[in-house]
Amino acid sequence: MTGIRTPGVERIQTPVAVAAEDELDRSLRPKRLEDFVGQDAVKDQLAVFIEAARNRGEALDHVLLAGPPGLGKTSLAQIVANELEADFVSTAGPALERKGDVASYLSSLAPRSVFFVDEIHRLPRALEETFYPAMEDRRLPITVGQGAGAKVVSLDLPEFTLIGATTRAGLLTTPLRDRFGVTHRLELYGAEELGLIVRRSARILGVEIDAQGAETIASRARGTPRVANRLLKRVRDFAEVRGGGRIDAAGAAEALELLQVDALGLDRLDREILHTVCEKFGGGPVGLSTLAVAVGEEQDTVEDVYEPYLLQRGMIMRTPRGRVATPAAYAHLGLEPPRGIERLF
Ligand SMILES: Nc1ncnc2c1ncn2[C@@H]1O[C@H](COP(=O)(O)OP(=O)(O)OP(=O)(O)O)[C@@H](O)[C@H]1O
Ligand SMILES: [Mg+2]
Repeated sequence: MTGIRTPGVERIQTPVAVAAEDELDRSLRPKRLEDFVGQDAVKDQLAVFIEAARNRGEALDHVLLAGPPGLGKTSLAQIVANELEADFVSTAGPALERKGDVASYLSSLAPRSVFFVDEIHRLPRALEETFYPAMEDRRLPITVGQGAGAKVVSLDLPEFTLIGATTRAGLLTTPLRDRFGVTHRLELYGAEELGLIVRRSARILGVEIDAQGAETIASRARGTPRVANRLLKRVRDFAEVRGGGRIDAAGAAEALELLQVDALGLDRLDREILHTVCEKFGGGPVGLSTLAVAVGEEQDTVEDVYEPYLLQRGMIMRTPRGRVATPAAYAHLGLEPPRGIERLF
């Protein structure tokens, strides 16, 4: 639930509008593996594991899904449950506070359910240990009574599949990570795949869009399906109000310009990050925490939401001493790069 913030693309929304958007988002979510665009290696492997588990009549092994926000981790987890024809029970790391919370979830699962824990890297450390025996032996040790008379008894759990999602696999402890039988890292999507996602979503929303219109939105969606869908919905608003409802390349480009999403898909904060590194810090290196303060954003947001795309586009680089702007960043901002910068790259 790491909401992605796209400054300039937000508008003030009433609760009714929010509910309508939620409904829309749910309708855009792929339900089956075949509707899930891209990430072929992940899909191919999951398809085999799902079929094997089904044939054996067993629960699927525990799965860890890692990757930046909005790439489809929650969607994939739901798809796995759908394909297994199993129940889907969902919670998030920060929502689990006490051992009892975990116990009540796990003990009430129907056999072979998918238990989805979003943001699993934010699970309290003390609770991680509760998960170890549950994941390994489907056992939950609980303490009964208090003081000298306290006893540890072991509760048998139904068979289940834990699917953990994280934007930060690096923050998971090794013992927890090792207990997942399958780990997949989702990568940013290519423009072609995003184009397919935009067209699929347009079909579901009943919006007319031509190939170039879809391409324009896809190429500015920072490799992220959630952003692609969000841009599509905003561009649709413009098309309905200004352009007779049909989305083409020119209309999409004009709408995105108004939304301050530039030709590379960078939004206001992306550009502010680049300006800050290039101008305030002379091209870097600048530490992440300093950079976050300078742009007035949470460090986690800068690292999880903004940086992956800037890195992918080769606008910034991570060095041991901090973030450095590349010649591409200067070129994109129309700034003169410092002399001798090429020698550094
Ligand atoms: N491969 C895909 N094909 C089609 N649509 C997709 C795909 N991946 C994501 N989407 C769309 O993007 C939206 C966001 O995906 P999802 O919520 O699964 O991402 P997430 O990785 O769980 O994000 P977060 O880390 O923020 O929780 C979905 O509602 C869905 O409409
Ligand atoms: Mg999610």
